[in-house]
Amino acid sequence: MGERLAGKVALVTGSTSGIGRAIAQLFAREGARVVVTGRRQALGEQVVAEIVAQGGQASCFRADFESMAAVRETVQFALQTYGRLDILVNNAMSHAVDWGKGRTVVELGEEEWDRMMAVGLKATFVACQEAIPAMLRDGGGAIVTIGSVRSLIPARGGLAYDVVKSGLINLSRQLNLDFGRQGIRSNLICPGWIINDPARAEKVAADPLLRIKAELLQTVGRAGRPDDIARAALFLASEDASFIAGAVLVVDGGLTILGGHEIQPLLEERYRRLFALP
Ligand SMILES: NC(=O)c1ccc[n+]([C@@H]2O[C@H](COP(=O)([O-])OP(=O)(O)OC[C@H]3O[C@@H](n4cnc5c(N)ncnc54)[C@H](OP(=O)(O)O)[C@@H]3O)[C@@H](O)[C@H]2O)c1
Repeated sequence: MGERLAGKVALVTGSTSGIGRAIAQLFAREGARVVVTGRRQALGEQVVAEIVAQGGQASCFRADFESMAAVRETVQFALQTYGRLDILVNNAMSHAVDWGKGRTVVELGEEEWDRMMAVGLKATFVACQEAIPAMLRDGGGAIVTIGSVRSLIPARGGLAYDVVKSGLINLSRQLNLDFGRQGIRSNLICPGWIINDPARAEKVAADPLLRIKAELLQTVGRAGRPDDIARAALFLASEDASFIAGAVLVVDGGLTILGGHEIQPLLEERYRRLFALP
């Protein structure tokens, strides 16, 4: 157990699986009391049990962030359970979400657009609105929001997701203008390709084409793991980052510095080898 977050209370939204789960576990190992939340209560309780088994403290609150009342109740649960809130991690939103996938602006339904905006953007606004007054009462706090490399570079067919993720940049940065002098620091992490669960990791390992993709698309030679993002979140939430406010921290293993002209010859060479081409 570490002590980088000793005495702190952290709410990690979307922590029943993937990146949020890794953040909740790491924060607990560093001494924070953690609120785990998401729609899948059984998974949330499992994360809590794992944290407690390792000597940490955590509680689970089931919430669906399509409802803003549920977002407010989640923050209030953290305050009522632990009496304070020092760290808010805005992470909830399924990366694998099918809503709106592959649709152009002409095809995407308003309802799908609204759901994406609710869970990804409005819930973050509401969570901050509910958490910040409580943080200010106790002298400040750290807010870490999970964006995406798609906050910066859109992907075709990902309109609503990309709009959510780019909107989070200025939501995160703005908080520093309004509350920085009162002790709030807010920063954004832009993850790249993170293999967010063991089943997916096995699938990638078993598929030669996916293995090539994992190796070549990042300059570090592998896809990311939830813990890669958790360690960045720990840094930004901790006192080590006390002079960092408004950062947009890309954590992508070099994905976004590789252009097509760089990848193309590497891919060609690998495919030739794979398919035994001359
Ligand atoms: N994996 C990647 O490659 C990648 C890359 C860039 C950015 N990201 C971002 O990283 C974050 C976590 O993604 P992940 O890859 O770890 O995916 P994940 O395993 O699907 O985790 C998403 C989390 O968000 C929660 N969530 C989703 N919809 C919700 C709702 N309506 N109400 C409450 N909670 C909800 C899920 O909980 P329940 O299902 O239990 O509700 C889950 O805990 C997301 O913001 C994603 O956009 C991921």
